[in-house]
Amino acid sequence: MRVGLVGWRGMVGSVLMTRMVEESDFGHFEARFFSTSNAGAMLPTSLVGLPKVEPRLYDAHDLSALQECDVVLTCQGSDYTKEVYEPLRQAGWSGYWIDAAKTLRMRDDAVVVLDPVNQPVIDQALNKGIKNFIGGNCTVSCMLMAVGALYKAGLVEFMTATTYQAASGGGAQHMRELLSQMGTLNASVRQLLDDPASAILEIDRQVLATQQSLSAEQTQHFLVPLAGSLIPWIDADRGDGTSLEEWKGGAETNKILGRGPGFNQPAIPIDSICVRIGAMRCHSQSLMFKLNKNVPLKDIEQMIAEDNPWVRLIANTKEDSIQELTPVKVTGSLNIAVGRLRKLAMGEQYLGAFTIGDQLLWGAAEPLRRMLRILMR
Ligand code: HSE
Repeated sequence: MRVGLVGWRGMVGSVLMTRMVEESDFGHFEARFFSTSNAGAMLPTSLVGLPKVEPRLYDAHDLSALQECDVVLTCQGSDYTKEVYEPLRQAGWSGYWIDAAKTLRMRDDAVVVLDPVNQPVIDQALNKGIKNFIGGNCTVSCMLMAVGALYKAGLVEFMTATTYQAASGGGAQHMRELLSQMGTLNASVRQLLDDPASAILEIDRQVLATQQSLSAEQTQHFLVPLAGSLIPWIDADRGDGTSLEEWKGGAETNKILGRGPGFNQPAIPIDSICVRIGAMRCHSQSLMFKLNKNVPLKDIEQMIAEDNPWVRLIANTKEDSIQELTPVKVTGSLNIAVGRLRKLAMGEQYLGAFTIGDQLLWGAAEPLRRMLRILMR
């Protein structure tokens, strides 16, 4: 098989390349690298020496070069998918398309891939000749990697989430903006901070004044200050009081699980309030479940812990939660931390949980490279 790789230089693409090298994915296929800006150039030295890799970059808009690939895997983003996918199909290409963009995700001829959770859905789709395999929304993927066991066991009557989403979900520029704002705030009170006798309310007043006077340029990506604040809205306004991110939570979770429209099983009600916070690249979520029966907490813990090799069950104690259940602890690893598991005051069927996953790994790159390996079986 020949695999065409597009968008491998951006943030998600770079994480993907690192993971593919770590897992020795190269060598299982012939790799052709595409570029939107540098076609014809030699492969960057970081990629030279990988097995079965073509030495030059191809033009990412060259349909005939794309058509020569059995699989196109792109992290280039939804605009590229919008531009290239349809013309490529219209040109008669029948290869496998793998990306992480929202463009194709909800189409009937596309499967949202998260194989540790929905391998049976992927297998069925492959048997039916489906060719589009799309990574899910990062929040959804991280959540299902954490508590997919409860869905697989058919225990969930409904779920609500409050998310704490990292800057990286917006993109690389958003991460830079957050850090720049942090620096600006700190600089505005540095002298006061250095003086142990200074008044904290004076520091607070000055920080607020700085936040309120950040320029349009200093807030160009998040639109409002994020450092020292939060933003309780992510992605587009759907006009009905919900954000697109919140809609995806319900729609995509059900689609990954093979429920809802197009499947023979009713959707499970899932709703959320999605919030941007000043974390770098881990999406955290506070979840509340109503289970359809009273299951002992010990059994729930065991089910979750044994669901997949990446879940790390964190004991519901202060010490374990503050040490192990944080973005700082989870970032950069494939671990999915699940903690604060307890029955809630509303009754024995109500369960609380807190989950954390690196949104660039399980939330973006990892399901794509795993799908590629599934195609190579
Ligand atoms: N929409 C997500 C976010 C990112 O903004 O955090 C990727 O799904």
